[in-house]
Amino acid sequence: MSKEKKIIAAKKAFEYVEEGMKLGLGTGSTADEFTKILSENVKDGFEIICIPTSENTKKLAESLKIPLGNLEDYNILDITIDGADEIDDSLSLLKGGGGALLREKIIAFNSKKMIVIADDSKKVSKLGDFKLPIEVIAFEHDTTIKRVLEKLEVIGYSGTASLRMLNDLPFQTDSKNLIYDLSIGLIKEPSDIDNLLNSIPGVVENGLFVDMANIVILGEENGVKIIEK
Ligand code: A5P
Repeated sequence: MSKEKKIIAAKKAFEYVEEGMKLGLGTGSTADEFTKILSENVKDGFEIICIPTSENTKKLAESLKIPLGNLEDYNILDITIDGADEIDDSLSLLKGGGGALLREKIIAFNSKKMIVIADDSKKVSKLGDFKLPIEVIAFEHDTTIKRVLEKLEVIGYSGTASLRMLNDLPFQTDSKNLIYDLSIGLIKEPSDIDNLLNSIPGVVENGLFVDMANIVILGEENGVKIIEK
């Protein structure tokens, strides 16, 4: 059922795409549904260039014969279409469940518009039930995360951090960094946390996307709900 909701949202997002656009291609199971829908249209001659937000998305897009490019060739993209782990009332996002937050944020930042596609379970009033991923460089990462928790505590967010693992080894991002998943409770002011985290040396990026999403398309039981900023 949830897969159906993802497909409905992805189909709706395709209606925003015009031939000849340069598109940021998101990561995750919902974004994958969009990539598949796009590929069916490419097969029928629809012209588009995509810039993937992860190695996984790149592999999928290549296997589906979607033409790919680099950001530097186009400077600014028309739209990025991506999923999210949580979406709040102001359309701030919590992302990074799939570990692609850094490239996702770079691509979204360099796009005129970001459209988020998700099933309706991702809509929350406040972010923070889902653990907040932060990408850190491996060098002295255990000290970096100590400082992160201390700084968060000073502004009233006490919590814990766990190093993301995969097959008994630390999970490595596409940029060869590590990820910590933070449990810090509900996030009242995403921009404060976003700024604080990114001010700490060793933190490469965090999963809060503030003022980036313009349109959210939620797949529901009987259709879609569109929320625009
Ligand atoms: C990837 O790093 C994430 O930001 C994804 O966008 C997010 O996890 C959504 O994934 P699903 O569409 O699989 O829920």
